[in-house]
Amino acid sequence: MKLAAYCCWIVVLGVALLLSHVPVVQGGIFDADYDTPTSVELLAAYPALNTTEREGNPAILCPFLRMLERSGRLDEFKDDTGAPVIPTGDLKQAADDFGCDTTTACGPVIDAVSAGQWFTEAFSFSKLNPFRPSTVDLERLWDAPPVSHECGFTFENGENGVSTDRLESTLGNLLARADLNDGQLVYQDLLDTKNEICASEGVEISSAGLIETQLIFAFMGGVERGYVEYDDVAGFLAINNQVPATKAGQQISALYLLQVREETN
Ligand SMILES: *[C@@H]1O[C@H](CO)[C@@H](O)[C@H](O)[C@H]1NC(C)=O
Repeated sequence: MKLAAYCCWIVVLGVALLLSHVPVVQGGIFDADYDTPTSVELLAAYPALNTTEREGNPAILCPFLRMLERSGRLDEFKDDTGAPVIPTGDLKQAADDFGCDTTTACGPVIDAVSAGQWFTEAFSFSKLNPFRPSTVDLERLWDAPPVSHECGFTFENGENGVSTDRLESTLGNLLARADLNDGQLVYQDLLDTKNEICASEGVEISSAGLIETQLIFAFMGGVERGYVEYDDVAGFLAINNQVPATKAGQQISALYLLQVREETN
C-alpha cells in the first residue's frame, strides 16, 4: 500500500514535469511563470490576515490551507452547516490565487486528498453517487492516505489538530539553526528539523512530508534566494498564520519545487 502510494506520487510528478516541457503548455495558461501575487498584494486582497480579526482553525493541519480559510477566501464555499468542506475546483482556484499552481502543484495534491478522504469516509449511499461533486474536508486532512503524513511540523503523529507543544518545539529547533545564520534558514535546516521529528516518532519521512517541506521553503522565496527568514516560517506555521514578508516570485509548480532540491542538496 505504501509502495503504491509512492509510485502514485512519482507518476504525478513525472506527468507534471512532462507537461511543463510541452511548448504549448509553457506559452499558455499553464506556464509556471505566470503572474503570482506578491506578499503585499496578497495582504491587500485579504486584509484579515496579519490581524487578529479572525482566529485560525487549529483543526486544519496544513498551514497553507489554514491560511486560505483564515483569509475568508473559502467562506462562500463552506457546506450548509458552515463546515469547511470545500469543492475541489473552488479549493484549487483559491490555492492558485495564493500562488500555488492548480495544474502541477496544489491541484494534484488537492485531488489526491479528496480521493483519500473518499476512501476513508464512512459508508453512505450518497458516497456512491458518481455525480456528487468531489470535496476536501479541511478538518479531516489527517484522514487522507497517501497524502496524510506523520512527523508534522505542527501536529503530533495521529493527532487531529495543531499541537501547541509540537509547534513550540519545532520553532525552537528552527530558531536555534537560524540564530547561527542571521535569522536565515536554508532548505537543509528545514529538512533536518523534519527528519529529527520523524526520528523522534520512529518513522521515515514520507514523500508527502518531503513535498510539504519543499513547499514551505519555496513559498517563502527559498528557490530565488537560497534561504528563507525564520520569522516568515514561524508566522506561516502559527495557528493565526501571517503572510510572509517575502513570498515566491513565481507561481509554485512541480517544476519549481524540483529546483528546491537541485539548489540546496
Ligand atoms: C505579516 O505579519 C508578520 C508578523 O508581524 C510580518 O513579519 C510580515 O512582514 C507581515 N506580512 C506582510 C506582507 O506585511
